[in-house]
Amino acid sequence: MPLSERWSDAALERVVQQRIVPALSAQGFCWLDGVLGEATGGAVLEQVRRMHASGALKGGQLMRSAPGVKRSAVRGDQIAWVCGEERGCEAVNVLLQLIDRLVSSAAKRLDKGISHRSKAMVACYPGGGAGYVKHVDNPNSDGRCITCIYYLNKNWNANDDGGVLRIFPEGKPYVADIEPLFDRLLLFWSDRRNPHEVQPSYATRYAITVWYFDSQERAEAKRRCRERTDSENSNSSE
Ligand code: OGA
Ligand code: OGA
Ligand code: MN
Repeated sequence: MPLSERWSDAALERVVQQRIVPALSAQGFCWLDGVLGEATGGAVLEQVRRMHASGALKGGQLMRSAPGVKRSAVRGDQIAWVCGEERGCEAVNVLLQLIDRLVSSAAKRLDKGISHRSKAMVACYPGGGAGYVKHVDNPNSDGRCITCIYYLNKNWNANDDGGVLRIFPEGKPYVADIEPLFDRLLLFWSDRRNPHEVQPSYATRYAITVWYFDSQERAEAKRRCRERTDSENSNSSE
């Protein structure tokens, strides 16, 4: 089925209403399989593979790096940020536009004011046990509201290859293990409700992540940041 039919407005509303909104409300996360289909999903994978082969993916930065802690001990991925408009990112752009539609419809129904999103983070865990220790994406109200991760790994076998995303839902007596399977899209609240880890990967593991911002929380975060900068400036000039 062509993507335009698979994701007609009516089909999209149905998935949002029947899957995404109830799952985000009740458990705080949700995943969908077969999101783009073999052809388009395969084209995204090909674009990511090409970025990887060309050396575009690099060890990224830590949000808050403690001195003396090696980055790779915390997170072992290699990343690049793309907006989707770059040459060679056409399929990635199709993915981003679909996620935009899904999140904007879900946000409306959840009464969430979503203003914009980050660029897309293309990430590769190169194997050899690379993972990402347990963390919260947005522990301190930086504005990020929903995390969306699209996985690209064909024939992934979690028993041998590891790389499971484990969510530890806040206050719940269970964990959720999500395998990074090809053409799977995962959505979850970015705040303290969803601590999560990437378990050690023993094969090349690709994913694309975007974060959507809550307009109000983002404005607050920017204001706090401005105030901090202002007071630092006035201190240093004294
Ligand atoms: C589940 C499940 C994801 C979703 O919790 O078993 O499939 O999309 N959740 O609802
Ligand atoms: C992250 C992250 C999870 C994954 O990049 O913050 O938690 O499954 N990634 O790749
Ligand atoms: Mn994370």
